[in-house]
Order: sequence, then C-alpha cells, then structure tokens
Amino acid sequence: MWPNMPLDYVKLPKDKNGIHYGLFVDSELIAVLSLFIIPDQKTAQFRKFATLKNYQGKGYGSQLLNYVIGEAKNQKITKIWCNARIEKIAFYKKFGLQETKHTFVKNNMSYVIMEKPFLTQ
Ligand SMILES: CC(C)(COP(=O)(O)OP(=O)(O)OC[C@H]1O[C@@H](n2cnc3c(N)ncnc32)[C@H](O)[C@@H]1OP(=O)(O)O)[C@@H](O)C(=O)NCCC(=O)NCCS
Repeated sequence: MWPNMPLDYVKLPKDKNGIHYGLFVDSELIAVLSLFIIPDQKTAQFRKFATLKNYQGKGYGSQLLNYVIGEAKNQKITKIWCNARIEKIAFYKKFGLQETKHTFVKNNMSYVIMEKPFLTQ
C-alpha cells in the first residue's frame, strides 16, 4: 500500500477497534484489509486494503474483498464504504460499490468515497 513508508505510517489510532482480515498463501500473509464498524452511523468502512506486489492481479484481493463484504452484510449496518483511490474506481465498481460526490486529496493522492448499500434487515 505504502511500500516506501515505515510500518508506523499505516498504523491507525483506531486499529484496536477494527477487524483485521488477512489472506494467506502457503502460510504467507499476502493480502490484508481492515474493517471498521461505526455503530453511530450503522456503517462499516474498509481501509488498508493491499496485496503484496508479487501477488497482485491474481484474484486474491477480490477474494478477500468479497469475503469481507459478505461478513459486513451479517452486521446490522446499512452500507459498507471506503475512501477509494481514483485509479481504483473501476475495480470497486465490480463489487457493487458506487461513487459518491465526496472527493478529497490527501498526500497528493485523489480519493472518492465509494459505498455499497445493503438492504435493511
Ligand atoms: C487494490 C489491490 C489491493 C487489489 O488486490 P489484487 O490482489 O491485485 O486484486 P485482484 O487480483 O483481485 O484484482 C486486481 C486486478 O486483476 C484482475 N484479475 C484478477 N484475477 C485475475 C486473473 N486471474 N487474471 C488476470 N487478471 C486478474 C482483476 O480483474 C483486477 O483488474 P482491474 O484492476 O483492472 O479491475 C492491489 O492492487 C493493491 O495492493 N494495490 C496497492 C494498494 C491500493 O491501491 N489499495 C487500495 C486503496 S483504495
């Protein structure tokens, strides 16, 4: 995700509140994604989604994201969302996430908030 930055750069103050998912191949952790349920909003945000460079483009990230979307659906929440890098919009659309009108720039990178509503349970 940020291969040139120290590990501390990807740590979040709220990490202890997240559910941290990992996909392993031959006992090696090759893809990660963290899910943060925000009870006040009844939503869940996923963050820190990344696959090791050598394993990208082989379907592992999709497997992990599909799994986490399924897990999120089992929670009492109305939608899952993320801050998507602009170049990832088409990728997330494959999972039913849609762009919102909320965009921002952070560390010279452009983002748009994307979301996938769940039918209310
Ligand atoms: C985003 C990220 C986590 C996706 O992980 P991944 O393991 O590469 O995901 P997948 O392999 O499932 O899909 C990646 C692409 O490969 C394609 N793909 C998947 N399996 C494939 C296969 N067997 N053969 C060919 N292509 C395949 C997917 O369709 C997808 O194409 P697209 O990018 O044109 O939409 C990864 O690219 C990454 O770590 N990027 C850097 C960090 C980052 O940008 N994180 C997201 C921030 S919003």
